[in-house]
Amino acid sequence: MRLENPNLLAALPGLEVEHRRGVALSGLTSLGIGGTTDLLLVRRHRHLPELIGLLKREGVPHRFLGGGTNLLVRDGELPWVMLQLVRPQPEVVIEGNLARVDAAADLGRMVTFCAKNNLGGMEGLIGVPGTVGGALRMNAGAYGTQIGSYVRQVDLFRAATGRLETLRGPDIRFEYRHTSFAPDDIMLAVQLELPSKAFREIIEGIRVCNEKRRSSQPLNQKSAGCIFKNPPGGSAGRMIDELGLKGHAVGPARVSDKHANFFINTGNATCAEMLALMADVRERVQRAYGVELHEEVIVWKD
Ligand code: EPU
Repeated sequence: MRLENPNLLAALPGLEVEHRRGVALSGLTSLGIGGTTDLLLVRRHRHLPELIGLLKREGVPHRFLGGGTNLLVRDGELPWVMLQLVRPQPEVVIEGNLARVDAAADLGRMVTFCAKNNLGGMEGLIGVPGTVGGALRMNAGAYGTQIGSYVRQVDLFRAATGRLETLRGPDIRFEYRHTSFAPDDIMLAVQLELPSKAFREIIEGIRVCNEKRRSSQPLNQKSAGCIFKNPPGGSAGRMIDELGLKGHAVGPARVSDKHANFFINTGNATCAEMLALMADVRERVQRAYGVELHEEVIVWKD
């Protein structure tokens, strides 16, 4: 979608928003898939209510892009403009056992920055790609750690009220890859309360997790991490593997040979090809095990 509305274009500089025309989402997502649209880069959280109010009034559909690492976007000209937050400096401010982190911060860099300040607990999250805001929204987790356990407070833009709000940790529900945030809430910043731990000890934990991840996941290929959630008590990866589906492909969209719940883009896969592969695998698992797999990746197809 191209922004041509003169009222809107005239208001953007005053809201400190940068307008980039015709950006391909395939270049902004880890899967390397996604069509083209205009991108609005938001520098100041405080301008969001006015910007989103304006987009609504002018009837411009919009979506919010985080790190693009857990996202499958449709092909062609997209029917919404994208909003993305620009990372401020500094991204993390530490005070005692509290870390205040901007939602646009890189998750891995945040974990190592906290480690250097002798704050640990999040070692398992080290190889999870994406932003802190994305991790928060879906309660990212790995190797027994989930980010939700450390959340004390979250600042967000509430689409339902059109306002900036602050939620306290106990008022947010964090479950397996699911939270009580509304789908159109925009995470802005989080305050984490982390246990004190010696830097050396944290680094050793990070090293162990990195090694496990490298040996079991295709890290150097284009993917969105695990494509399906694990069903209760089961493993999507193991079931897909047991069905002999590693290497199974629809065009360049392919089930990884290393981890069967990672679907990779080996060339210029389209969203349609990736969705066809997902539907095929889901149907085979349903037939063989009577288990319905649910997407872990967020799909924007309409
Ligand atoms: N397995 C296979 N074949 C495969 C993949 C896995 O047999 O191709 C078996 C493994 O041998 C193991 C079991 O399945 O016995 C579970 O595999 P793994 O330890 O790799 O964990 P997972 O359940 O597949 C989950 C998360 C990952 C996270 C790892 C490590 C989900 C959907 N996945 O994977 O998260 O990194 O544990 O904690 O919850 C993600 O969320 O995108 C993600 C990759």
